[in-house]
Order: sequence, then C-alpha cells, then structure tokens
Amino acid sequence: DRPKILVTQQVPEAAYPLLEAVGDVEANREEGVIWSADELLQRAPGHDYLYCLVTNTIDARLLEACAAATPRLKLVANMAVGYNNIDVAAATRLNIAITNTPGVLSDTTADLTFGLLMAIARRISEAERFLRAGKFTGWGPLLLCGADVHHATLGIIGMGRIGKLVAKRASGFDMKVLYHNTHRLPAEEEQRYNATYVSLEDLLRQSDFVCLQAPYKPETHHLIGEKELEMMKPSSFLINTARGPMVDEKALVQALQRGTIAGAGLDVFENEPAVEPELLSMENVVLLPHIGSASHQTRTRMATMASENIVAHASEQRPPNILNPEALV
Ligand code: GLV
Ligand code: GLV
Repeated sequence: DRPKILVTQQVPEAAYPLLEAVGDVEANREEGVIWSADELLQRAPGHDYLYCLVTNTIDARLLEACAAATPRLKLVANMAVGYNNIDVAAATRLNIAITNTPGVLSDTTADLTFGLLMAIARRISEAERFLRAGKFTGWGPLLLCGADVHHATLGIIGMGRIGKLVAKRASGFDMKVLYHNTHRLPAEEEQRYNATYVSLEDLLRQSDFVCLQAPYKPETHHLIGEKELEMMKPSSFLINTARGPMVDEKALVQALQRGTIAGAGLDVFENEPAVEPELLSMENVVLLPHIGSASHQTRTRMATMASENIVAHASEQRPPNILNPEALV
C-alpha cells in the first residue's frame, strides 16, 4: 500500500510533487483555511504522515488517536523551525518521528528582525500612515523624528542561528552587540560576531534594542514580563520575531502605555492570531502577521524540506531533520 499523507494547510506548490511521488496525498488546498483542532482530530487519524504548520496544535490527544488508527502515524513534518506547537515528548513515547525546517529560514528571519528594528526606530509605519492620511504638508525639522539605529546597542536574547545573523547585520550598522544565551559562545565566535556575552539583566539595562531570537519552551514562557520591562531603558525598543508567549503581552501593553519602554516591533503574539486590542491603537508599535520567514525563496525551501523528511522516511532513510531520533523504530 502507498502511504497516506495529509497536508493540513495550503503550502507552496513545490511541496506536493515530492509527496505525490511516494504516497497518496490528501491536502487542505483552500486558501486561508486553517483546520480547527476538532477538524484535525477527525481528519488526521488513518494517515502515515502528517505535513503540518505552526497553526496546528499537535497535542497528545491527536497523536494518540493517530497512533491507534490504521495505518498508524509515523512522522509529523512541521513546515517551521519552531516546534512548540507539537508535543514532542508524547510523539516520542508513541514512536512518532517529528521533523522541522532549521537553517533555511535563518537569514530571511534575521532580515525581518532588522526590518522591524528599523521600522520602529525610524517610525516608518507611523510615517506612512501619516502620509496616506493626507497629513504631509511639507518637510519639517521636527516631523516624525525617531531613534538612531547606527551606533546603538543591540541586545540579542538567544544566540542561535537566527541570533547570529542578526548580529552580523548589526555590525554593518556599527552597533554594539550584547547577547544572552543558555550557553556562552566560544571566544572565536564572539569575535566573529563582535558580540559580548552579558547576563539577561545587564542586557536589558544596557540595550537600546532588545531582540528575542530564542526558541519557545516552558523555560522561556514570559521571559519578558513586568520586571524585565522595568529594567529596560525608557528610550529602548523590544523586537520579537520568535514566539509570542515569550513576552507577557499584557505587561508589554502597560509598559508601552506608561512609557516604561519607547516602543515594540512584534511579528508574533501571545495568543496568535489574536492581538491585545490596545496595541492596535498605539502609534509606538509595529505589528506584523507572523511573516518572519515569508520570502518566496525561503517558503519554497521550507516547503520542500518538510516534504523531503517525509520522502526520506517513506524510502526507509533517516529523515534529515529528525528532532526525536529515539522515536524511529
Ligand atoms: C515560524 O515561525 C517558524 O518557526 O518557522
Ligand atoms: C533557526 O534556524 C534557529 O534555530 O535559530
């Protein structure tokens, strides 16, 4: 029997022929339609492979139902680098392999971090709203002045692949780069990225821009809350292109209202796709709909990479981006 593959949401075209070559593909190809948890629970059991997105919650209940069905689920390919939407421990216990798409989106996401940083510092979105509203009556010495990016201090929380590429971009702007990470980088890497290791508290106290580039896990839940925001400078900005729940979004709203910090650039939200309503009417925030990796080239590469993991397993090879090799039986 050919393996049965379920693709939960519309993905770049390049993904499908690779899957069709090794199995029978059922796919949600309706533009913009995201299946609910219940719909996924109805549809997923009885497939060998699940190709999913960060919009799908792959919890123990779903995995158990898929493991008990015939054919049983063998692998979940997440078309994302982050995999906090998947209960990997439950999957491992059920011998279900999990794969992600690391590396290919790092530069593209670092580009967006920098884009958000520039946009919030120089009030780019706010200025465009001003112009579009017909308020531009001529060049003004005081018009829409913002903060300098060049020579400012950038604090990177999470110095993985993406964090390092943000540091690389910062060096072109002559920024001073501080970083905090679960482990310190080797000295030669610190030199290469011109980055200084500091405690989280020192990073928050000294940085003009604080960028979150860490993975979301129980340990990073609300990593930035009221206390941390209080440590930041009143002139500083918070940028998050990683995962929303690392920031206590209600505390952030209060900090922005009180002037505890100057502004925020957010590509991700605590209860995505919901956004704290107060944020929507603030001028000192830039809000984006989770587009960190959204370039044509990168999304195509992520899409084929997720397919390649399924193809490898279906061809009895080790999936190249396996996160839980213990699950392979
Ligand atoms: C997207 O947010 C990803 O983790 O790739
Ligand atoms: C992305 O590829 C990361 O894990 O930093």
